[in-house]
Amino acid sequence: MTTIKVALLGFGTVGSSVYQTIQSRRSKFERLIGKKVEIVGVLIQDETKQRNIADGILVTSSFEELLAIPEIDVIIEAINGIEPGAGYLSRALEKGIHVVTANKELLAHEGQSLRETAAKGHAQLKFEAAVAGGVPIIGTLQQLLQVNEVSNVEAILNGTSNYILTEIAENQVGFQAALHSAQKHGYAEADPGNDVDGWDAFYKLMILCELLLGKQPDWTQVSRRGIRGITLADIQVVETAGWRIKHIASLQVKEEKAQLRVEPMAVPEGHPLYEVSGVDNAVSIQGDLAGNLKLQGPGAGALPTASAILEDFVQLYKESDNRNRSIDASILAEDSNRLQDWLATAPSIPKTAAVKQRWKGKQADNNAYLVSATEGELEKLLQAGKICNFFRLAGAGREIADTVPILI
Ligand code: HSE
Repeated sequence: MTTIKVALLGFGTVGSSVYQTIQSRRSKFERLIGKKVEIVGVLIQDETKQRNIADGILVTSSFEELLAIPEIDVIIEAINGIEPGAGYLSRALEKGIHVVTANKELLAHEGQSLRETAAKGHAQLKFEAAVAGGVPIIGTLQQLLQVNEVSNVEAILNGTSNYILTEIAENQVGFQAALHSAQKHGYAEADPGNDVDGWDAFYKLMILCELLLGKQPDWTQVSRRGIRGITLADIQVVETAGWRIKHIASLQVKEEKAQLRVEPMAVPEGHPLYEVSGVDNAVSIQGDLAGNLKLQGPGAGALPTASAILEDFVQLYKESDNRNRSIDASILAEDSNRLQDWLATAPSIPKTAAVKQRWKGKQADNNAYLVSATEGELEKLLQAGKICNFFRLAGAGREIADTVPILI
């Protein structure tokens, strides 16, 4: 039986989990792909740290030394940030080494160029673990929805943000305490600003966009808001109105134009993302043939991420053709002057806003208002302290009055 030689970049929460799973499921891999799997090297940062890595495996902080191991077949990357990872992966792909990565920031920035390098090096680049943790969204879009026209993707892509919003709502804790708990569970990024300011979900949306449209938008034209600044009072008043706040990344295609957004949204009961709580991610996809599909599962954490990495790894040896599909659409810039419906929270709403409905807050002083306004107007009211927060309504085209009661 031939042997597949694997090198690991990174031995943190995810890297060590991948290592342990490979070591403990050797016979399963052999059965699945008909080859032995051997870990030949691990790239680490701090050589003085004690790690549980078997003798005979090269453990080094030098990528050069790692790459010099003869005949590496696959590199599994689980490190943070763009560099040095992008340089490492590029060199591996040039040499014809397949790459499996969980690094969304790197892919959002360098995915296109790495794909080109992979094609030149006749290697494969796989990245299921980079979006939605253990939820197989990349494979679903690549392999299972090729004939469908996908018109709408709404997704919770940052487990930390969803966990924090759930913790605040269910346990009435403050933002900092909820964030601390997410960090303790190993969900948050090394810099949790990536999570709570929406960058992590933004990178993941860019990866999905590239997969679906074959290109990315101008990043400055995509609305990106995180959950920092959402208070318990916001959540209580929005929930009193029968809605929930969820941090949503969306891509909508209409008449060959695509709109992308990453922001906290007001989600009505019955919406596919309404019940998604804790660290779960979920992706709701509208396909013209398949209808509405929802994939849901843990979006962060060692084992779910290792699961996606290793499913990718096995897939490397089960397929040769991995073409991307693409939708023909231009990408729309955000228009902050367009009149839209929003859910705004405030003790009282200034007369300038066109109020359609009002829900009286039960516990907080705040009320929730359904208003028709431009984003620019609401941004100004927010800056002036006239409103506490505002949220776009999830679920384009839903009949609002049918789904929520008026509680004035
Ligand atoms: N910090 C990320 C999250 C980890 O919370 O979703 C998984 O990408």
